[in-house]
Amino acid sequence: MAEETDLQSLVTRMREIAGSARVRVAQAGDAQAVEDLRIALLGKKSELSGLLRLMGGLPAEQRPEAGKAANEAKQEISDALEARRSAFAADERRRRLAQETLDVTLPGRPVPMGRRHPLTQTCDEIIAIFTELGFEVASGPDLEDEFHNFEALNIPANHPARDMQDTFYLAEGGVLRTHTSPVQIRSMQSRRPPLAVIAPGRVYRCDADLTHSPMFTQIEGLMVDEDVRMSDLKGILERLIHRYFGEDRPYRLRPSFFPFTEPSAEVDILWHKDSGEDVWLEVLGAGMVHPAVLENVGYDSQRLSGFAFGLGVERFAMLKYGIPNIRLFYENDLRFLRQF
Ligand code: PHE
Repeated sequence: MAEETDLQSLVTRMREIAGSARVRVAQAGDAQAVEDLRIALLGKKSELSGLLRLMGGLPAEQRPEAGKAANEAKQEISDALEARRSAFAADERRRRLAQETLDVTLPGRPVPMGRRHPLTQTCDEIIAIFTELGFEVASGPDLEDEFHNFEALNIPANHPARDMQDTFYLAEGGVLRTHTSPVQIRSMQSRRPPLAVIAPGRVYRCDADLTHSPMFTQIEGLMVDEDVRMSDLKGILERLIHRYFGEDRPYRLRPSFFPFTEPSAEVDILWHKDSGEDVWLEVLGAGMVHPAVLENVGYDSQRLSGFAFGLGVERFAMLKYGIPNIRLFYENDLRFLRQF
């Protein structure tokens, strides 16, 4: 190009640039190459930008024509770039869609569904009956000391009641708790009255047949306050029986004995056997907390009174679902568990 900027050669060069740019854009292999070309063709360091700067040297009356040619060249290049860019974008979208196609006729993958164990379900159901009344859930250790499992519950050493329970004694001292009643003691020690707790847990007795297992599950209930009465206990137990076994289930309180309650009762429900015969079945033990037990945890037995009860969860579940053998709960045979 001459020293003096010459309109004609400027315009010609711009057209050439646009023409060769179209070819290069058409050859760009991917979106990144298009972007690199955009910078090379239209960026500050591009030949076209250099020519634009030269336009300043043209006589004023020639500038509009040069400007027009420059705009056309720019437009042509950006149109080519844009067309190529959107072609790549469309390709990319098609590729993604193809990858994401879903064959809805394929068989589904089976999702194994777990469920709660029938004992857990029974516990939860019984606990809910009490938490609804404001009872709090409490717990204690399976491995107990003799104080909590026996002494504090008014069962002194050598008392015949200890034999009632077929205790597993541990060589290193302590016992596997024979009932959830030690949680009564722990709850009274760690809270102040008024208190109302419900305590599920495993218990252990050296005993095994169709309806007894050396390990089984109990739920303990305890309420202590001023002026708690036997009628409160009866009301609560009636609610439990009616909610769990049905509103019309006949039941009775029968006088009984536990060292830690006085008076004590056992609750029987009327059960219609398959043989057609109706029988009373014992479902739980209960009573008014013995004053000696209150004194053992430092409570004033003149001012405070309470009731307690303990029930066997397996027994509750076996009756409701007609389960003939307690061992079914522990074998974890899926054919059994799936039925709940
Ligand atoms: N702990 C008694 C048992 O296992 C049940 C019971 C609990 C009785 C609370 C009275 C009060 O047989």
